Amino acid sequence: MATLQVIGGGRMGAALVAGLLAGGHDRSDLLLVEDDAERRAELQQMFAGVAVHGEPGGASGTVVAVKPSDGEPACRKSASAGTRRLLSVMAGVTLTTLESWVGPDVAVVRSMPNTPSLIGAGVSAVSPGSRAGEDDLRWAEELLAKVGVVVRLPEASLDAVTGLSGSGPAYVFLVAEALIDAGVLAGLPRPVSRLLALHTLAGTGRLLVESGDGPEALRAQVTSPGGTTAAGLRVLESRAVRAAFLDAVMAATERSRAMGEEP
Ligand SMILES: NC(=O)c1ccc[n+]([C@@H]2O[C@H](COP(=O)([O-])OP(=O)(O)OC[C@H]3O[C@@H](n4cnc5c(N)ncnc54)[C@H](OP(=O)(O)O)[C@@H]3O)[C@@H](O)[C@H]2O)c1
Repeated sequence: MATLQVIGGGRMGAALVAGLLAGGHDRSDLLLVEDDAERRAELQQMFAGVAVHGEPGGASGTVVAVKPSDGEPACRKSASAGTRRLLSVMAGVTLTTLESWVGPDVAVVRSMPNTPSLIGAGVSAVSPGSRAGEDDLRWAEELLAKVGVVVRLPEASLDAVTGLSGSGPAYVFLVAEALIDAGVLAGLPRPVSRLLALHTLAGTGRLLVESGDGPEALRAQVTSPGGTTAAGLRVLESRAVRAAFLDAVMAATERSRAMGEEP
């Protein structure tokens, strides 16, 4: 019997399995559960040596990576099959709901990953349920660390996490679109503008993470007195771009909170 099963072989489930295998997880110790037969065949091709089944098995640990609307049967079935700990990556499904689905014998950890997890460059927050101990949290953190960076937070913070890092990739995609259009406006051919904009974003992200300097210092380094960057930044400040980001993250956080309260 595998000690770990991943329920849902969609984008997030497959990314997790790929991360686990890349991190050296034993293939024979992994069960991937997917209810769509066509997708099961694809997963068998992608992950040779990993068991791919249509129904949950009795693995001691379960990751639930199905859409929130499919979560209840997946959680209930894995609890009846004997799982002891469960990590949910489902957006918006609360710990109280998860615990009501699995019953008193299963430790639950809820997480909020983001889309770059699909290429192993995500950031996730994890929150423990009422029956999850230090070992359960560490187990969840180690799993999610295969697809990115992990922080531990109380569940009450997950709406803010959703507003910042969950929705954050979409804000950056919007910035990318705008920069590409701006390059075209300034006279560059679109493919060239696209290449310059995408690599500016990707390279700047790496520099931010790897340099150890904060964004303020890095920005000061590229802003010479009276220079081109200062002229560009003045326009962004005069259009209140900073305030727009504050409002965007707050609006997404409030929306996440309101969705959590919907029946
Ligand atoms: N993608 C992301 O970047 C991201 C980020 C944060 C959180 N999440 C969360 O991750 C979860 C999965 O997202 P996703 O993008 O990977 O979705 P997805 O691509 O739709 O994958 C879900 C897969 O699970 C299968 N499934 C549904 N019910 C099942 C069951 N009872 N047993 C076995 N398999 C079942 C679905 O098959 P059918 O097509 O037959 O239903 C589908 O193949 C969601 O809850 C989402 O909120 C995703």
